[in-house]
Amino acid sequence: MKHWIAPSLLAADFSRLGDEVRQVMEAGADLIHFDVMDNHYVPNLTVGPLVLESLRRAGIDCIMDVHLMVKPVDRLIGDFLAAGADIISVHPESTEHLHRTLTSIREGGASPGIVFNPATPITVLDEVIDLVDLVLVMSVNPGFGGQSFIESSLTKLAAARDRIDASGRPIRLEIDGGIKVGNIRRAADAGADTFVAGSAIFGSGDYAGTIAALRSALE
Ligand code: DX5
Ligand code: ZN
Repeated sequence: MKHWIAPSLLAADFSRLGDEVRQVMEAGADLIHFDVMDNHYVPNLTVGPLVLESLRRAGIDCIMDVHLMVKPVDRLIGDFLAAGADIISVHPESTEHLHRTLTSIREGGASPGIVFNPATPITVLDEVIDLVDLVLVMSVNPGFGGQSFIESSLTKLAAARDRIDASGRPIRLEIDGGIKVGNIRRAADAGADTFVAGSAIFGSGDYAGTIAALRSALE
């Protein structure tokens, strides 16, 4: 699969969010990573479906990759479907019935994703691999941008890659947390094809230059 670069809006300037999205897409991003936090599942608070809906209303039509860090998660899924999410990813810990949650995302017309924290066993994937279009491996503990990459996530990526290849399904494998020009290649070598980067892109003065540098590290 083609490598995809997914800037995380967590590190964007929220006072001009629509412009930030347009600028990173023009700078060569493939999709936008939209981090939703509730101050309950994770100790931080970000944005909800109203913000996604207003980006859509402003004419933003890129792929929106919604990463839900909220608990309980089920009630919000309908709102994100209606707001225009393309991919909706959930943590197994955020729902009592993961199978039902993933099925509801598919039935609502979006692509379901499952997210693994550093301490979540990858074996959960075996139970739901037929239901997902995306596997997201966290390389930090969720809740904040700008944290350091946890090296053991490379082992988890490789374990996820083996399972995806064995399934024969076209599932994307995304890595999220602490991705920079200096480590993106190692994540790709471990099997990732989709790379979230928040502070690395939005914290640089030059979105196009940083996205190009991330891509050239992958070549
Ligand atoms: C963390 C979020 C990440 C975060 C990544 O909970 O899921 O998407 O924005 O930010 P960086 O790239 O700065 O680690
Ligand atoms: Zn995220």
